[in-house]
Amino acid sequence: MAVAPDAQFQRLWPTLFMSLVLPGSENANSVLTELLLQADDEAEDLTVRYLDQDIFQNPHPAVGWLRQCCVRAVLDYAVEAGLDYRPDFDVQAWVNINRRGDYHNLHNHPHAWLSGTYYVAMPEQPPAGHRTDLNPGAISFFDPRAQVNMTAVRGDGQFDPEIRRLPKAGELFLWPSFLHHFVHPNLSDSPRISISFNAVLRRKELS
Ligand SMILES: [Fe+2]
Repeated sequence: MAVAPDAQFQRLWPTLFMSLVLPGSENANSVLTELLLQADDEAEDLTVRYLDQDIFQNPHPAVGWLRQCCVRAVLDYAVEAGLDYRPDFDVQAWVNINRRGDYHNLHNHPHAWLSGTYYVAMPEQPPAGHRTDLNPGAISFFDPRAQVNMTAVRGDGQFDPEIRRLPKAGELFLWPSFLHHFVHPNLSDSPRISISFNAVLRRKELS
């Protein structure tokens, strides 16, 4: 059936999600893995105390490379989101080391504009056992418009309230900080290692 030629369409309230594989990630990841595991050995509850740290302050060149990539991704995201100005922001990052059984409960990142994760080590997950509904190592994002799927119809793009991705080492994900997400348990004996960050808009003081 042809659509009326003068009909106009506009998608409202977009939720933009970005992913990319960072060039050079293979070399960087082996260095970062060693660095982060050592940091985890030296600090108590490194993954839990995410607000107390900014791994981007570490002077190691591999960390500097990653920080630059994250800043670039935020700027690219801003262009795609339609901003016609360069946003002024800081990035703050923390380390996630999920050993066997570890996961991150449903949450979002208050007081930030964009949030992202770079995947340093993503171990292969063991084959599913008696449960076929597990998604070890994956991350799920949930439709921020509460219960909108209740009135969705198949094919309209609003049917599934959960978007799930199994990241690859070297991938960077970026999303609006209000978006709720859940990191599924790591069922591998090897650690699942990532670095998450917030892009926080800088406040301009009144002069
Ligand atoms: Fe998170």
